[in-house]
Amino acid sequence: MTTHRNHVAVLPIALALVAAACGSADDRETQQQESFTEHMHGHLVHVRAIKASVIGGDLDATREHAVWLSEHDEPPGMPEAWSPYVKEMRQYAATAAAARNLETVAIAISEIARTCGECHRANGANLQFDADRRPPADAQDLTTQMRRHLWAADRMWEGLLRPSDEAWVSGTDILADVHLTAALIGGEPAARARVGDLVQQARALGEQGGRTGPGPERSVLYGKFLSLCADCHTLTGGGPGG
Ligand code: HEC
Ligand code: HEC
Repeated sequence: MTTHRNHVAVLPIALALVAAACGSADDRETQQQESFTEHMHGHLVHVRAIKASVIGGDLDATREHAVWLSEHDEPPGMPEAWSPYVKEMRQYAATAAAARNLETVAIAISEIARTCGECHRANGANLQFDADRRPPADAQDLTTQMRRHLWAADRMWEGLLRPSDEAWVSGTDILADVHLTAALIGGEPAARARVGDLVQQARALGEQGGRTGPGPERSVLYGKFLSLCADCHTLTGGGPGG
């Protein structure tokens, strides 16, 4: 994902800004704080892997990453104010690690993203995302509509993580406007009704999401949303790389 490269590129700049902002503050303390941030963000790769595997409908693939996150200790000497966030993240990771269905993992990873965003807000962290600001043009084929889904999912994720109202709303707007039909997907007649129902649910979540305020209301909705991707990809055998 492009955000991974972004993560590596942005860190030194962000750190420089933090250091500059701290000006007269004790250099050693600033340096320590930097290494904690770096350490914590080393977990990003696992967080992303969990989200991608949920979308792909692969429960087994989520597990090793969730276990790693839940067992990984916070570095000694971490600022005390950070501890509640890290504890909360580990709890959700433990829930995901023990999960027997993708819905539970989807909910847990959404709550993790909310927690990331709450710490960023509390610390005035200013995250940059270089994702494409424009959704894929609205062509009437399944692959394009799926890419629009993914675009919406990424923007809403960014909305939770930065956190950013603008990113959240641009995601839910697209979602409410996904032109997907069960007929477009095809497949067994028996599955079709269920597929149609999932399409309907995704649109409803988009509409509902546009009206939710920041915080847990959004993460709960995002968890449901990720579950829908997983459900339908499992049902149809479709999905990223599938
Ligand atoms: C305990 C507080 C805290 C938590 C929890 C936290 N962050 Fe951060 N994060 C920060 C601070 C402070 C910065 C800005 C300073 C910096 O970039 O070093 C930051 C910056 C970032 C950046 C931009 C800089 C970079 O490293 O690329 C990204 C991306 C990021 N966080 C992702 C996450 C994700 C994803 C999570 C949750 C899995 C998370 N953060 C959880 C405090 C936190
Ligand atoms: C109603 C069923 C359904 C739902 C809901 C659904 N998908 Fe899909 N998805 C499919 C099917 C079927 C395919 C295979 C499409 C193909 O063959 O091109 C697919 C393929 C994809 C692809 C691969 C597209 C490509 O570039 O080839 C991505 C990415 C994707 N889905 C993302 C998502 C995300 C993210 C969500 C949830 C936010 C989601 N999908 C929800 C049915 C669904």
